[in-house]
Amino acid sequence: MYTINLIKKTAKIVLLLLCTLNSITVFSEDEISIKKIDAPFLGTSAGDDWPVFNGTYGEQHFSALEEINTTNVEKLGLAWHMDLDAGNTVTGPLEVDNTIYISKGYSVVHAIDAVSGKLLWKYDPDVAKHADIRLRQGWGSRGLAWWNNKIYVGTLDGRLIALEAKTGDVVWTVNTLEEIENGSYFISGAPRVFDGKVIIGNGGTEHASTRGFVTTYDAESGKQLWRFYVVPGNPKDGFENKAMEMAAETWHGEWWKVGGGGNTWNAFTYDKEFGQILIGTGNGSPWNIKVRSQGKGDNLFLCSIVALDAETGEYRWHYQVNPGETWDYNASMDMQLGEAEIDGKQRKIVVTAPKNGFFYVLDRTNGKLISAEKITKANWASHIDLETGRPVENPEARYPKGTFTLYPSPAGAHSWLPMSFDNQKNRAFIPVIELGARYDDRMVDLKNWKHLPGNAVDTAVILELEYDKDRKLTDPMSKLLAWDIVKQKEIWSVPGPGSWNGGVLATRGNIVFQGQITGEFKAYDADTGKLLWSFDAGDPVLAPPITYLADGKQYVTVLTGLGTSISFYGGSLGALPNYRTMKRRVLTFSLGGNAELPPRSKEQARVAFDDPEYELPDTKTLEMGQLMFMSRCMACHGDGALAVGQAPDLRTSGIVPLKPTFNAFVRNGVKARGMPSFEELPDEQLHLIREFIRWKAATLRENE
Ligand code: HEC
Repeated sequence: MYTINLIKKTAKIVLLLLCTLNSITVFSEDEISIKKIDAPFLGTSAGDDWPVFNGTYGEQHFSALEEINTTNVEKLGLAWHMDLDAGNTVTGPLEVDNTIYISKGYSVVHAIDAVSGKLLWKYDPDVAKHADIRLRQGWGSRGLAWWNNKIYVGTLDGRLIALEAKTGDVVWTVNTLEEIENGSYFISGAPRVFDGKVIIGNGGTEHASTRGFVTTYDAESGKQLWRFYVVPGNPKDGFENKAMEMAAETWHGEWWKVGGGGNTWNAFTYDKEFGQILIGTGNGSPWNIKVRSQGKGDNLFLCSIVALDAETGEYRWHYQVNPGETWDYNASMDMQLGEAEIDGKQRKIVVTAPKNGFFYVLDRTNGKLISAEKITKANWASHIDLETGRPVENPEARYPKGTFTLYPSPAGAHSWLPMSFDNQKNRAFIPVIELGARYDDRMVDLKNWKHLPGNAVDTAVILELEYDKDRKLTDPMSKLLAWDIVKQKEIWSVPGPGSWNGGVLATRGNIVFQGQITGEFKAYDADTGKLLWSFDAGDPVLAPPITYLADGKQYVTVLTGLGTSISFYGGSLGALPNYRTMKRRVLTFSLGGNAELPPRSKEQARVAFDDPEYELPDTKTLEMGQLMFMSRCMACHGDGALAVGQAPDLRTSGIVPLKPTFNAFVRNGVKARGMPSFEELPDEQLHLIREFIRWKAATLRENE
């Protein structure tokens, strides 16, 4: 009774009464408003709105809506579309109160009316001006967060910005990297908000000596609350907490000099029931443990799910999926909460499919492993020992002789594009990548290795994507997999085109939505995998779809276009999207929607530039050129100069044959249009890069 009366009083009076009446339960105004704002985030499926990257606190990326279902999905049609300009569009939208929010390219936030498709406001944090050499990494923004009429977005240069949801006006900005000297950390992931706090991590593992950490801020004021480091620093400087002291026992040599890594670039899950926040941690910096930690030790807390007290950031428990990791098998993929009866016992669980090809079910009260099985070819380990919770590794996997071909590749069997978890039926729908890679450190100076300067990609091991010998490059190297999380067994799967396909959304309407690199947006029957509906979007559909009610009607929204990561792994495609002609769009569907897209642009054959003076250079030049290209240009212009749509195909560029023009162009860049500047590259290095591109163009010309 007191509680009800107190709701209306000011915080001050509440405090006063608390002092005198300390025997009764009262809530402060803050707590009351958090309870109200909390409501749409709770439960194991998203409701009318989609207020957070994966729909709920539990991150299931699953919707309870069923207006669109297996009986009527064939009537699903385009309600409206919006054209966007160039830049990363593989980003997860949000929807709150009939407004869609997206963060495209370099974190340019758009607010769009969900019913009409009209742009309401746009906010551009001008990242090209702030991000400096980080622009070379090629990442865009993966998403944003909503809380209490505010939108939160992170930027490549490390800012976390709160905007007024109605207007896009800036409420506050903090620099999450303020004390970090090294200019390689960046934010690409979506922030999460819980209990009035925003949490954000960072990336950068491949580009410099990084030491990963996560920070929480007060959602209203931007004041820093707590920070947790993922790996220990130099013991001489003292440890931040007991967890770091414990972690340091598992490292060897002078790891802090190379950073250690563990950057938490994507996944967070708030487990309200137990007052904890789970963080999915990244891989080692550099990848190669021979360089990082004298080839030994578990290297905590790399590649782990770490549970922290949500209030204080204090360590509670962890589960490490890859002790002593050396392959970029990070555990930064969605961690989804639920409850299930397993072996006759009701368990509180968290499920995750990290890069390493296994599907894990853990007890989220203590981090103990319940089960783990392979969802695809994974030759680095035979199985996970359920007693110890540790993998039983293939002794060849750590490339002791310098090279070994491993499945999955560092793209992961599952990457950051979310799976969907239906906790009622205990099944997950996973976008699986089926690539392998040859790791090779025979050319690496393991004793004196240092990160290449200038934000070049450098992992202390050389990588080459590998495909099964009996497979053609155009064969499917991916699948959409429906997985029984209790039996740890496949229910059904359908092969996908290429290796990299879209994030997955499943709904109580018993439908699984997924987009494909080839431009189809598809709906499957969740029980059988039967294809029920397909829409030709004309351009790649990779972003995670969302669904919500606006004015009482169910809509599905997804973006087309490319971005983040695809250039590294896009080589397994038949038809390649063209950077200049590809359409980046927001598409919104509803039952009976009858809008149409302009006709698909015709695929143009790629024609190599004219290069009458070209002569085949010596092997050494080509090898060095390839190394330079892969560490500096691949992120956008593609593996082996095979551009897949994130930047122009350099084999067809009229600039490359003209040496002085090429040198000037690469040194100056066109930052505002996404081409960074490489002012420090000397003539000899530009020569090597250019020779490599010319050689690739000559190869293309021969095949024309
Ligand atoms: C972060 C992504 C990124 C990286 C890294 C990058 N580029 Fe680019 N590059 C672009 C984009 C985007 C464009 C297109 C800009 C525009 O719209 O004109 C471009 C354009 C170019 C062009 C002009 C192509 C044409 O004909 O229009 C050349 C040449 C080029 N880049 C060379 C390089 C080289 C060499 C490297 C490595 C040293 C490199 N780029 C690294 C994104 C990148």
